[in-house]
Parts: sequence; C-alpha cells; structure tokens
Amino acid sequence: MQKNLIGNIAPQKLIERFGSPLYAYDAEVIRARCRELKKAFPGVRMYYACKANTNVEIIRLIAVEGLDIETTSPGEIAAARKAGVPVSRIAYTCASIGEKELVSVVRQGVLVHLDSLTQVEIFGRNFPGRDISVRLARGVGAGHHAHVVTGGPESKFGIHLAHLHRLKAITAKYNLRITGIHQHIGSGGLFEVSTVMEAMDTFLDIAMQFPDLEHIDFGGGFGVPYMPGEKRLDLAALGHALAKRAEKFARQYGRKVEMSFEPGRYLVAEAGNLVLSVTDIKRNPQKTFVGVDSGMGHLVRPAMYDSYHEIVNATHPNNRKQKVTIAGYYCESGDVLAKNRPLPMPEIGDILVIKNAGAYGYTMSSNYNLRERPAEVLVEKGKGRLIRKRGA
Ligand code: LLP
Repeated sequence: MQKNLIGNIAPQKLIERFGSPLYAYDAEVIRARCRELKKAFPGVRMYYACKANTNVEIIRLIAVEGLDIETTSPGEIAAARKAGVPVSRIAYTCASIGEKELVSVVRQGVLVHLDSLTQVEIFGRNFPGRDISVRLARGVGAGHHAHVVTGGPESKFGIHLAHLHRLKAITAKYNLRITGIHQHIGSGGLFEVSTVMEAMDTFLDIAMQFPDLEHIDFGGGFGVPYMPGEKRLDLAALGHALAKRAEKFARQYGRKVEMSFEPGRYLVAEAGNLVLSVTDIKRNPQKTFVGVDSGMGHLVRPAMYDSYHEIVNATHPNNRKQKVTIAGYYCESGDVLAKNRPLPMPEIGDILVIKNAGAYGYTMSSNYNLRERPAEVLVEKGKGRLIRKRGA
C-alpha cells in the first residue's frame, strides 16, 4: 500500500471516508505553484484561468495567494465572486457570446477582453466613450493537441490582425480607447522559454501600434509534465527574459505598461488526482482490460485528446508489471483512461490513482449515462475535506 500519495494521506483512507471514485487535490501543491509564479514574475499580474478548475474552494485558495481570476462565462464569474474575489480582480475573455451576455458582463464591472469586431461594435453601441481590451489573433499557435491550439489560421479566437483597420474604424465611430490587448496562443504547449519569448516578442512589436495601452495580456498555456521524465518550463529563466524584454518595450513605448499572464493548468493540474477502484479484470486473448468505477465522464482528456495521465496502483504497487488497458464504466468503446499501460497488475478492489488530473478534469466532467460526478476533496495538513459532494 502506498501511504503518502496525496498530501501525506493514503488514497485508501480517502476512499474509506468519502467513497469511490473521487477527485483529491493537494492544497500545498497549488500553493507552491502560485508562489513559484509570483516569485518568477515580480510585478507581472497573474490571473488564474479558472476554467481549469472552478471549485470555489480552489479559486479561493488561489485568490488568497494573491492571484487574480480569469473567467470565460457568467457561471465562472459567479464562482469567483462566491470565492470572495472582487470584480476589480476578475477578467473575462469572451468567446462567441451575444449582446445580452456581453452587456451583462460589462455591467458587472469585470475587465472584458473582446473577441470579435461584432463584439466591439456591440460594446461601442452600448458603452460609447469607454476603454476596451481586445483579443488579437496573429496567425501563430501552440498546444498539446490540435483541439487546444488557440492561435493560428485554424483558430476561432480573436480579432485577426488583417482586420486592424476595421477595428480602428469601429473604435473611432464610438470613441472607444483600446487600453488593453490580449493573446492566448494555445494551451499546455509552452515548455520552452524560447517559444514563450518568441510569442511575447512579436506581440510586443504589435503593441507598438496601440498608443493608449495600459495592459498587455500574454494568455496562459504553461505546460506541465504529464509524461514521466518530461521537462518543466524554466519559470525563473522565463521571468528574467520577460523582465528584460519589458524594459526594452518601456523604452520604445515611452512608458511602462502592466503585463499579465493567465495560466490555468500550471496551477492545479499536478495537485489533482482521480482516485478510483478496480471493479473487473478481463483477460482477452490479445488484451487485458482492467475495469474501473470511473471513466470518460469524470476525466475526458484521454478519450478527447489522447492525453497521457500517469497511473499508480496504490494497493499493490509491488505486483508484477503487466500491460493493461484501463476501461471505464461508460457504455462507449472509447471510454479508456489508458491503453496498453505497464502497471503493477491490479486486482479487483484495488485503488488506482490517476495523476495530474487537477486541471480540466472535474470541470469537463459530465453525467453521461446518468452517472454521478465524483466527489471532490481538498487535502490539507494531512486531512481531507469534502469540497463538493458526489453527484453535485
Ligand atoms: N486563457 C485563455 C484565453 C484560454 O482560452 C485558456 C485555455 C487559458 C488561458 C488557460 O490555458 P492553460 O494555462 O490552462 O493551458 N481542455 C483542454 C484545455 C483547454 C484550454 C482552453 N483555454 C485540456 O484538457 O487540455
């Protein structure tokens, strides 16, 4: 039995107390990530992109560490507000939203990054004479999978640079001042300082075309090592490189402009574990399936992006390794959490821990097949605390 897998608690203890399956988050890991970011980027504003994990307790924990919150729906704004975050510390990045939502979000007083010329037009019609922030698309993307590349010719996001003259015409018509620009080139694909710096470098060149800037947001996307041995992004080196580049920008631009990032995954992915139980073993002639009481409805990333999540057999870590496919309990053949993975051979009743599941795990869960969502537990100072009930 592996005792200290999740913040000094054995996963078995959590399952005994809260039932199976469940998401368990290690609060100290989240705090450590917040502090690393703040240390590496002094003076840079950090928003937590809460789409990665919207549990109110987690948002609160991150906000207490001094990060602001980036949202993308009225529901996320409400979650941030419930966590005690004032509107002055909330940003909202629009996707393809209509007039009603846009106007209501602006009225709440959060910082809004507009995503299209239509939205700029709607904003101008409703709030002439105000300052705006716009998300720009500049034909460059990165990401761990095609579905999460949010820049580049295939991406639906942002106002394309080819339309800058139209943007300027609308802002002139409504007397709007562009005081913020925003970009997010993709999710989870940023591992190299040089890739991030290249993206920032060209964005700062573009920024020179906007004379009234007060803030520049470089988006999120910092990668985390999902595969064993995968390299970490060198935050300290990135922090130094950005500080140097920001100084150069301030000289060229004539003054300093606030800069920000909005990482999501980086803060919560590694803190989260999906803890589940083995319910069945099927030894077919060519493949061994290990059935579990969870699957794509709880963690869709493997089915959706072919994502790799490390798996630990917490009950029998010393069993002989065998290649197994972890099959979920949803009635769909794509519902597998890992394919042909060498694991200490599980037995029925064993507890498995799916690691690095704190980001885009619970938030992308569903009640497909009318199965309940798992409970969520926050582990802190050697104790687990229920932060969302099963099925909520
Ligand atoms: N900012 C914006 C505008 C975004 O669209 C996103 C992610 C982020 C920040 C945060 O990106 P991060 O730092 O977490 O990589 N479900 C996918 C990820 C989709 C991300 C969408 N936008 C996954 O499970 O990998």
